[in-house]
Order: sequence, then structure tokens, then C-alpha cells
Amino acid sequence: MTNTSEETQVYDSTTFWIAPARNFRTSARLHLQHLLFQNTLDHILEPNIQTFVAGRKELKVADLGCGNGAWLNDLYDELSSKGISAQLDGYDINPINFPASAFLPPSVTLKKLDILAKPLPADMVGAYDIVHARALTSIIVGSDLSPVLSAALALLKPGGWLQWEESRADTWVVQPPAPDVSTTACDTIAHMLKAAGQARGSGFEFLGELGRHVEEFGFSDVHSLSVNLRPRDLKAWTEDYLMVWEELYVFFPPKAEKPEAPMTREAWVDLFAKAVGETEKGVAIHQGAIVSVVGRKAI
Ligand SMILES: C[S@@+](CC[C@H](N)C(=O)[O-])C[C@H]1O[C@@H](n2cnc3c(N)ncnc32)[C@H](O)[C@@H]1O
Repeated sequence: MTNTSEETQVYDSTTFWIAPARNFRTSARLHLQHLLFQNTLDHILEPNIQTFVAGRKELKVADLGCGNGAWLNDLYDELSSKGISAQLDGYDINPINFPASAFLPPSVTLKKLDILAKPLPADMVGAYDIVHARALTSIIVGSDLSPVLSAALALLKPGGWLQWEESRADTWVVQPPAPDVSTTACDTIAHMLKAAGQARGSGFEFLGELGRHVEEFGFSDVHSLSVNLRPRDLKAWTEDYLMVWEELYVFFPPKAEKPEAPMTREAWVDLFAKAVGETEKGVAIHQGAIVSVVGRKAI
């Protein structure tokens, strides 16, 4: 919710996710985003990993930056239905959105951990058959994928699989339902976000070649998928992104504090309201596709 007296912030990937604002609203948005990823990909485990798990009786899976554990909960159902008993461990730097363990399946455990910390706890190293990562672009600084890929590689057993899924955060699509519906405010925000990413040293262009990066890091059997979003999900994707955009006001200074700023908080709030108005006329905002990359740690 907009608070014009709140201090102006500078985006910092190391503090953003532990701020008090990452609360039940963030979790609700992540639940929605989880459903949208699943609608788009139509699998919990990527087909090559499904082949890997077929016939196995036991499995250990880690989910890095697991949020509210929604993916692990669905994975539990899928593996149980195949008679696979698995230890499913979620790790997140901020435990605020973990469901109470009383409401989780007994084999799902969520733990507070900075997955970029070095060294990682010794009992986790080389312990996992599958490591999952999803929607982690916000913790990647300057297009350097090595912190996330090093963590995944460290946790995997030899021959274990990484599954990494991301929205194409390098792309903003502003799509009117008909040519005469205005998209000016949404276009302006999309353009600003792209420019802000590039100014920080990453417009997330690496997502277009995520498979190549994973392969160059030393993973083998790399497979990449790019799946376009379903038109019938675009309204929900739009709502998901509006919830993110609504929180961005903290990065713009109030007019009283910095009247010469290229975008004051008041101007942002006005622009956001106009963008919402456009979406109420049917404009969709989204990122076009989801990219999913899997690869194996050398045996
Ligand atoms: C966009 S959310 C994605 C959550 C989940 N992967 C999903 O797809 O629903 C990013 C998550 O990464 C977590 N995170 C950020 N930095 C982290 C770090 N260094 N170690 C562990 N988790 C981190 C955040 O707290 C947040 O829950």
C-alpha cells in the first residue's frame, strides 16, 4: 500500500527479500504465480527428470528460495502418487511465509537459509538428487549466475539434476485487447523497468540463453524449454505483475524531498493508477514465456 512519507529506498538484492514488506501479500502473489507457472509448463518435474525418478523408491529434493513451499507441496503429491518416498527440503532466507509444519506433509521441511552463503552447511553438500530453483532473477546481481549455479552444484549428488524455471524477465509485453485501447501508461512503466534493469547492469538478457550458461558452468545433458503463456491466463499474470508494480513506489522520492527527480513518488502513483485503468479496459502485461532449463551434475 502506498505511503508517501515512507523513506525512499534503493533496490538491494541482499535486503529486499528480508524486508517487513515481504509479508502475506507477497506470499499470496507467489501462490498465484505458482499456479500460473504450473498452468504454463504443465509439469512439476521436467520430462527428463521424470524419467530419472521413474522406478526409484527414495529421493532427496532441495528447493532453493522456496518462498511459501507451494512447489514442494505439489511435488509431494506427484511423487506420492508414483509410490516414491522423498525427503523434500525447502530453503529460504526469509521464513515468514513458510506454512506451519503442522500443515505440511511430513516429508516436507522448510528451513531458513541464505543459499548464497559460503560454505553451505556440510550435511547438505552432495546430498540431493534434484535441486529446484524458480523465480530467482531478483537475487542475481549484474547477470552473474555463478552464485546460484555454484549453490545448486554443491548440493547435488554426482548425476543429480538441476531444474531451473524463470519468467522471461528480460521481456515486457504490453498487449491491448484491440488496437484502439490505450497502453500509454503500461508502456511507460514497462520501458522504465527495462531501463532500470539495464542501469543496474542486467536487463536479464541471460534468460534468452539460460541453457548455454548452465552448460558452460559444467552441467551436462542440458535441456531447455520455452513455453508461451496461455492467453486465458494473461489476466491473472497481469494481476500478479500489478501487485509487484504497486510496491515499487518506495524507490521513488516524494516530491517534497526531491522535486527535481525525473519520477517523484506522486508521479509514480499517478502513472500506476493510469496503468491499472488501462488493464481494466483489458490491457494485458506479461513476460511472454517461461524458460525452463535442466542439467546434470557430472557423475
Ligand atoms: C520471487 S520469490 C520465488 C519463490 C519460489 N521460488 C517460487 O517460485 O514460488 C524469491 C524467493 O527467494 C528468496 N530468497 C532471496 N534471496 C535468497 C537467498 N540468498 N537465499 C535463500 N532464499 C532467498 C526470497 O525470500 C523469496 O522467497
